[in-house]
Amino acid sequence: MHHTTSPHAALAPAPSWLSEAVLYQIYPQSFADSDGDGIGDLAGITAHLDHLSWLGVNTVWLNPCFASPFRDGGYDVSDYFSIAPRYGTDDDLATLVDAARRRGIRILLDLVAGHTSDRHAWFQHALHDPDDHRYIWTDGSGPVPEGFAPSPGPRPGAYLPNFFVSQPALNFGYTRSNADEPWRQPVDAEGPRANRAALREIMDHWLRLGLSGFRVDMASSLVKDDPGHVETTALWQELRRWLDGAHPEAVLLSEWGDPAVSVPAGFHGDFFLQFGGPDNGLPMRSLWSNGGGTVDTAWEPQDCWFHADGKGTPDTFVRAWQNAEAALHGTGHVVLPTSNHDFSRLATEPRSRAELPAAFAFQLTWPTLPALYYGEEIGMRYVPGLPDHEGSRLGPQYNRAGSRTPMQWDDTANAGFSTAPAEDLYLPLDPDHDRPTVAAQRDDPDSLLHLVRRLIALRRTTPELGPTGSVRILNTGYPLVHLRGGRYLVVVNPRREPVTMPLPCTVPPGAVPRPLETSGVTVTDSTLSAEGFGFGIHDLGAPGTPA
Ligand code: GLC
Repeated sequence: MHHTTSPHAALAPAPSWLSEAVLYQIYPQSFADSDGDGIGDLAGITAHLDHLSWLGVNTVWLNPCFASPFRDGGYDVSDYFSIAPRYGTDDDLATLVDAARRRGIRILLDLVAGHTSDRHAWFQHALHDPDDHRYIWTDGSGPVPEGFAPSPGPRPGAYLPNFFVSQPALNFGYTRSNADEPWRQPVDAEGPRANRAALREIMDHWLRLGLSGFRVDMASSLVKDDPGHVETTALWQELRRWLDGAHPEAVLLSEWGDPAVSVPAGFHGDFFLQFGGPDNGLPMRSLWSNGGGTVDTAWEPQDCWFHADGKGTPDTFVRAWQNAEAALHGTGHVVLPTSNHDFSRLATEPRSRAELPAAFAFQLTWPTLPALYYGEEIGMRYVPGLPDHEGSRLGPQYNRAGSRTPMQWDDTANAGFSTAPAEDLYLPLDPDHDRPTVAAQRDDPDSLLHLVRRLIALRRTTPELGPTGSVRILNTGYPLVHLRGGRYLVVVNPRREPVTMPLPCTVPPGAVPRPLETSGVTVTDSTLSAEGFGFGIHDLGAPGTPA
């Protein structure tokens, strides 16, 4: 097979910094525009690093910022080694990385591993050379097979796209051959080998410049017809073994949605997503997806736990997380976002602002690694009704643009995002006259922003609330009550209806539960009451005993 380093050596443990990570995802085109062209850029991010260090996040993931024709917001890379001019230069990235490091913040880039843009020089070459096997091509003798796109150039035949037609799949080979599909190549053919070497080269280039790792796009998609992901696993393990030796402090976080598979395959962490995994994303949707914002036609309607009507349950998520943890037993991390550039924000109608704090209380006290998407910390909302922009629209009720609008910094022109005329902005700002801003919430200690900041600080100073602290569920449903590290009692009531119940644990003799961060939750030594949308984190002072 294609292993170049010992295939059986165990993967090195994840770098220890990762277990303390609080991730913050920046969609570069929408965060801060420093040069007035209406599109966010790297210098804009550098200028706002103080916001991130004030907030307490320590690991930033930037969506792709490489050269691209932007048919899919930059997930169509035309050159992995150059920064898209609209975001700045290599020097701007170096400045950002340095300025971030001085604040204790690491920067991750996005590695689009499974496909390139059709404008990439590799694809342009492949269009003219039938012997070029970087992509998956038919020889043109039969009809265009299902899922393939006809050649747009002189080369006969058709190629396989990985996402949009403008994103041809790189050829990492097929696990199984098929006499009827002669374009299937084995994983150790020349094209797949060249592509694996290219991934290594791309990673090496950016890691040498001080980046701390990558979020890997569509990480499960590389080897085709790969039952059980056996060959995709072999591929990532090979890269991981190289990384362990060459860049032991770097991390790879996958967009896979199935940590039980992706972490053994070589990732240090994997995002829980609205798709992927044994229940195809249901665990994530069962937390946040309220039927508003982005909805895929393939999703069965379901009630989510974070809903005022209180018809959902945390159990689907908790079970999926327990299963993942049991498979990982400490070898890597599950990453829990509230939202990202592909899915609805937390603040998606009908969810109201009053419902957001409890969601962060849950996310920031659960053992998963928390990932904040820019603007979530002030409760920016999913903006409905936007046009398709740079490939944002994926279906009748699936426009990602609503989660990609400009960051709302203050109440100056364009909410402080850009000095360009409003019609030149990457996407329009949320037109709501009452839209939240960073500046207004900084001035208000009772704001969501301050709460998120305090919760992050609490997590960072209380190891029991991080990935290594134990978790024991004492009550499920409304409210969820759990004990972290034996002594931190967390109560989360995401519905409108208040609740009073006997305390589901015994407080140690002489101890008085001390509120660390609460809103509408009261705990005595015998009862617990939670208002609608209430949450509370209490220190029992010593290990409590489940009742
Ligand atoms: C991932 C990205 C998404 C992109 C797709 C194709 O799912 O998160 O934004 O459109 O891959 O690269």
